[in-house]
Amino acid sequence: MYKSTAEIRRSFLDFFVRNNHQEVASSSLVPADDPTLLFTNAGMNQFKDVFLGQDQRSYTRATTSQRCVRAGGKHNDLENVGYTARHHTFFEMLGNFSFGDYFKSDAIKFAWTFLTEELQLPVEKLLVTVYAEDDEAYGIWQNEIGLPAEKIIRIATSDNFWSMGDTGPCGPCSEIFYDHGEHIWGGPPGSPEEDGDRFIEIWNLVFMQFNRSADGKMDPLPKPSIDTGMGLERISAILQNVHSNYEIDIFQALIKAAAKVCGSDKLDDKSLRVIADHIRSCSFLIADGVIPSNEGRGYVLRRIIRRAVRHGYKVGAQDVFFYKLVAALIEQMGEAYPELKTQREIIEKVLRLEEEQFARTLDRGMAILEDAIQNMSSDTLSGEVVFKLYDTYGFPVDLTADVLREKELQLDMEGFEAEMTKQRQRAQQASQFGTDYNDQITSDKASDFTGYDHESGQAKVIELYKNGESVEQLNDGEEGIVVLDITPFYAESGGQVGDTGHIKVAGGDFIVTDTVKLNQAIAHRGKMAGTVKLGEAANAEIDTVRRANIKLNHSATHLLHAALKQVLGAHVNQKGSLVTEDKLRFDFSHLEAVTADELKQVEVLVNEQVRANHDLQTRLMDLDSAKAAGAMALFGEKYDDEVRVVSMGEFSLELCGGTHVSRTGDIGLFRIISEAGIAAGVRRIEAVTGQAALEFAQSESKLLNDLAKQLKTDAQSLAARLNQLLEQQKQLEKDNKALQQKLASNASSDLLSAMVQINGTNVLISRLEGVEAGALRTMVDDLKNQIGEVVLLLATASGEKVNLIAGVTKKLTEKVKAGELVNFVAQQVGGKGGGRPDMAQAGGNQPENLENALNSVSTWLQDKL
Ligand code: ALA
Repeated sequence: MYKSTAEIRRSFLDFFVRNNHQEVASSSLVPADDPTLLFTNAGMNQFKDVFLGQDQRSYTRATTSQRCVRAGGKHNDLENVGYTARHHTFFEMLGNFSFGDYFKSDAIKFAWTFLTEELQLPVEKLLVTVYAEDDEAYGIWQNEIGLPAEKIIRIATSDNFWSMGDTGPCGPCSEIFYDHGEHIWGGPPGSPEEDGDRFIEIWNLVFMQFNRSADGKMDPLPKPSIDTGMGLERISAILQNVHSNYEIDIFQALIKAAAKVCGSDKLDDKSLRVIADHIRSCSFLIADGVIPSNEGRGYVLRRIIRRAVRHGYKVGAQDVFFYKLVAALIEQMGEAYPELKTQREIIEKVLRLEEEQFARTLDRGMAILEDAIQNMSSDTLSGEVVFKLYDTYGFPVDLTADVLREKELQLDMEGFEAEMTKQRQRAQQASQFGTDYNDQITSDKASDFTGYDHESGQAKVIELYKNGESVEQLNDGEEGIVVLDITPFYAESGGQVGDTGHIKVAGGDFIVTDTVKLNQAIAHRGKMAGTVKLGEAANAEIDTVRRANIKLNHSATHLLHAALKQVLGAHVNQKGSLVTEDKLRFDFSHLEAVTADELKQVEVLVNEQVRANHDLQTRLMDLDSAKAAGAMALFGEKYDDEVRVVSMGEFSLELCGGTHVSRTGDIGLFRIISEAGIAAGVRRIEAVTGQAALEFAQSESKLLNDLAKQLKTDAQSLAARLNQLLEQQKQLEKDNKALQQKLASNASSDLLSAMVQINGTNVLISRLEGVEAGALRTMVDDLKNQIGEVVLLLATASGEKVNLIAGVTKKLTEKVKAGELVNFVAQQVGGKGGGRPDMAQAGGNQPENLENALNSVSTWLQDKL
């Protein structure tokens, strides 16, 4: 029974809806609240909290067709793509779920009924596995379904114990396999040939029973539940009577499209399969807000795009091609996933930019790799070459591995890692160069930070440093570091600058110019007035006005981050942040300049939140709960188990250790002062708050008013007045030009009186004052017209500069050429020139010699004419 992929997707969902399941839309590939998970890798991800009993839904049964990416992270199939009939970076998982409703028996029956009755798969082609210890599942297959013992295979390995990641819901599972027939190599699950393509797992039924925590402990779930997953591409292959997933309708269409844009006619080429697979993962990832970068999710995307590009060039692509496949993908999948249509423009653009960037180094990188392969003495490529390709030519390691694998070679991963470490060290050293001694101090002391609630406080001096060395005391005028046991000074971190202020002791005042962390200790850097001794009592006072301004800017940074996500999209992620007393600077991922209109929206949104005057709440939570609450965390950043969560109304929730306002209204006013690109795909916004924002607004309106005054109008009419002036200016320039020309022709008439005859030929040599070089040309033309046959040489001098022009009418150029003539004079005034035989110009820098030079022309011409 042939069914298209779209029909199978529909009949699966319909079947479970008929059996009282709620149809739920696929969630994003970027897990909403789970930075521990690289990409959505299974249908159950969006229900994780429901399984754990932390989230309630209005239904206890659900069914989905979930988009999944398995490239990087616990479940990674990237390297297999192109080499097997069934692995993909992107695939669709059909699933049915029970949250404490039905369990093993019904799950097995639903699956069996769907496969054998709805899809009418022949029973003799199916076999199943169960977890070795799961007698219950075994019994159900044997007694309730009636499968013979040889069709139920017990598997003791983790293959039949499914977990989402290192932590989270998990449980034993039972898998259903399809036998594609003897003509294909491979053995049943559990046999030595199980990795072959003959017996293919099509459906995994997970009996969710436990929650695995980070220490490996397994706690029972509140209620036993069901999570299942069937690969849509695999079941489609069966129903479309083909063996490889790459032969199903969707893939055939994509492979044909890939062949076309690459100019290849080998439809069974492995590279085309790779490209067809990769256009799906890349397009969906971009649609879900991921953009290529050098870390985290963005780097996985970059790796996949570059791998696809390399394969495209391998099969003959001559030009940027990958983005052209988005159209074919939309034709195949746009119906089921409308986000592909709505995000088409950005998907194409991102793919094109990334390919263009990579294509610039691809050829040279490949040449270096081929060369290295030629010269290999073993079957392992050295880590240095792998590193060079990575660092200089943008070859992700798995791309190099992919090329090597085609030639059955390996790479030296350890050697590569060693090179990476060396590079990191170099970078560290470079950043230390030129900094003061104190940067190299490491302290094993710890200081308590009281600055969330206090601006000053009593403390004890527990460490002192001078020139990077621990000392007993700091004397008058000495610079160094003071460490206290307790301090209200915030040490620079999370983009917020360190506090400044005073540490007062009996014998003096240490003026703090910056505060940084030294491991657990808080280090106050500054200069001593008087003397401070180790162990003495101190009173620490921060600069409260400065801190107050920093707070405004920090809280506003959170609002800005949330507003950017709302206005520009979920792809906006923090790339850097600096919070000082004067302003805030926020770097984020976004592909193009933020438009004036978008900036305005962001500003409006932030100011609305300021006026909403939310109470700012800070809570200490464990990391998992914070993420579950939806706190924005930086992907790839390491956080402690207990984190501080800062929230402002419903609008913003972020993990943050910084100091903040009590209510958003304290910010007063938020103004964006600039927006610019700082690297590929990264933009920077600078903004001001409070008094600074007011001053910014005031200086802008002052500027407007001053300008208006100068132009003798008011601010409202400024634009109209300016337009008017610009128009006037244009007209004046036009008039001026006309006048210049008129003057020039008048002047040339005057010149006629200076004309002489040399051997019967008209010759005019003249020095003019105050004529522009441009006007000289017009004069030469005019004079020629007026005189008829003539040899002309005009000169002007202004300051150090001499301008010369020679004109010779056509016939006379046989006797003397304008170029020769002008050069004859130019040489004498320190210049050189050239041009056409009838008109030539030159410059010079010895005006003092001009007179003599002009006088010498007559004699010179005597011989020529
Ligand atoms: N979550 C299960 C899997 O991914 C169904 O195989």
